Amino acid sequence: MIQRTHRCGELAKQHVGQFVVLNGWVQRRRDHGAVMFIDLRDRTGLTQVVFNAERNAVIHRAAHTLRSECVVSISGQVMTRPDNSRNPNLPTGEIEVFVDAVEILSEAKTPPFMIEDEAEVTEAIRLKYRYLDLRRPKMQRLLSMRHAISQAARNFLNAEGFLEVDTPVLTKSTPEGARDYLVPSRVNAGQFFALPQSPQLFKQVLMVSGVDRYYQIARCFRDEDLRNDRQPEFTQIDLELSFVDRDHVMALMERMIVTLFREAGGVQLSTPFLRMTYAEAMGRYGSDKPDLRFDMPLYDVTAFGAASDFKVFKDAEVKGGIVKALIVKGGAGLSRTRIDALGETAKSFGAKGLAWLKITAEGQLESVIAKFLDAKAFGAALPEAKPSDLVLFGADKPAIVHDVLGRIRLLLGEELNLIDKTVWKPLWVTEFPLLDYSPEEKRYVFMHNPFAAPMDEDLTLLGSDPLKVRAKAYDMVLNGSEIGGGSIRNHRSEIQLKILDLLGINKEQAQAKFGFLLEALDYGAPPHGGIAFGLDRLVMLLGGADSIRDVIAFPKTQRAQCPLTDAPSSVSTDQLKELRIKLDLIE
Ligand code: AMO
Ligand code: AMP
Repeated sequence: MIQRTHRCGELAKQHVGQFVVLNGWVQRRRDHGAVMFIDLRDRTGLTQVVFNAERNAVIHRAAHTLRSECVVSISGQVMTRPDNSRNPNLPTGEIEVFVDAVEILSEAKTPPFMIEDEAEVTEAIRLKYRYLDLRRPKMQRLLSMRHAISQAARNFLNAEGFLEVDTPVLTKSTPEGARDYLVPSRVNAGQFFALPQSPQLFKQVLMVSGVDRYYQIARCFRDEDLRNDRQPEFTQIDLELSFVDRDHVMALMERMIVTLFREAGGVQLSTPFLRMTYAEAMGRYGSDKPDLRFDMPLYDVTAFGAASDFKVFKDAEVKGGIVKALIVKGGAGLSRTRIDALGETAKSFGAKGLAWLKITAEGQLESVIAKFLDAKAFGAALPEAKPSDLVLFGADKPAIVHDVLGRIRLLLGEELNLIDKTVWKPLWVTEFPLLDYSPEEKRYVFMHNPFAAPMDEDLTLLGSDPLKVRAKAYDMVLNGSEIGGGSIRNHRSEIQLKILDLLGINKEQAQAKFGFLLEALDYGAPPHGGIAFGLDRLVMLLGGADSIRDVIAFPKTQRAQCPLTDAPSSVSTDQLKELRIKLDLIE
């Protein structure tokens, strides 16, 4: 094979006249009789190569055998393109290469879809032929961006004195709240490893080991229902530090994310990032990961509702609920059909309804519930609502009102084009409640993971009013997506045990699940804390990808399958025998 001298995306005006060798894939062939054009492609881009019958009749004839996606080596001379065939959209659009010799390195069958960004193809086919899919420029760009982000993270953390340490993949279940993937042990028949949901327990043990600053680009496994931003197997930029408090971690991580975005994406984020408590985020945006690219906040109008004659609003207040309003600026023009559809959507989100009112251009209230409302009192309660606006109301328990209006807010933001897609709005959400109450399970459950430390000032509430205890936890949120989360941990086992007790995990259960961590805490554990960022989500956001599957080289489908390898699949009876496992699937 003739070794290449250049990459296909590299040649420009300054190379004109040079004799070069290019290796790559045939993107497309265009036959113009005595002249045949081929676009030659590699990871770096495309170059137009020309087979000219006048320059070399044998080579020109040979070009007819070149088919899409076959792999060739060509040598020839770089020429300036004639004025009328320059392509300003292509970095190599000023030049073309006149071919003197060609060697076919590999033939290709006709691919099931065109190797170009606009190819019309289903995701199932893309994943089955992932090697072809990954040849597309967009996918190559996302792979490069992923590489750039991990390298920038490594460089940053190395310079800050972090050690990269690998933690096991065959391990015990870690309590991050999802279902575990299990792996049977042959040597210990009937026993199972769990794949880690995160390196959480090990990174805390590493702090007790004196590692001081740990990081890992770590693979995590969670058997949960998949969504557009979730995969069963995903990657975290995971880290942990000793002798730090919340502000240390947040300030350092802010610097890291700013560096990553600048180096990998050329994006300058402004600092310091906004900080918002969980209570503020829920109250104002109905979400613990608010999208701040548009405002449209939720307004509390409980007092106005209670004083009105509208039964739904009055009842909400009496039952300890709230009434909140969302103002759609200029929304009075929305049709009744559209508003009713929004009401149905609200119901599908768990609301009992979505009361609304329009303010006419003249300032009158227009609504089926207008007769129950006092216009003057309304004006005083919600002065932000102006003529021609539409106001939507939720009345219920706070959790329902916030969730429903928060989701309606996002939906309208998208539908009414209120979201500025060119801006980046990072923020920290802090002071999460330590615990939540699960009515289904009739017990406390953890909000983040069971290792987050309570805020010092809330420690006494652990005994008296556990739901009021806030954790030293923080999430980094970007454009409505949770990109990272972490906390300061309990480095003293007695507080840790107390929290586990509240979670209904008694000493024996705790011992069986993560006794090694509790024991380690008793041998001199430094105060410590950390965080993990979702690498896939970072790439998805910075690379502008629509799905998390586009930023993972070999992802799983929504049904947790890999169409390329056909995993998961059945195994032979011999394999099962070795594991001393007999299948008896429960219906
Ligand atoms: P957490 O569970 O919040 O924290 O995860 C950290 C970050 O990982 C990303 N993430 C995911 N990305 C893709 N697919 C998934 N299924 C998925 N699940 C989570 C999110 C999230 O913010 N051990 C703790 C971290 C710590 O406390 O230090 C942990 O795993 O971006
Ligand atoms: P009704 O009196 O049930 O006909 O409802 C009148 C309006 O109030 C309708 O627009 C309902 O969608 C709305 N509504 C009913 N229950 C609630 C609720 N809990 N929160 C907000 N709006 C509601």
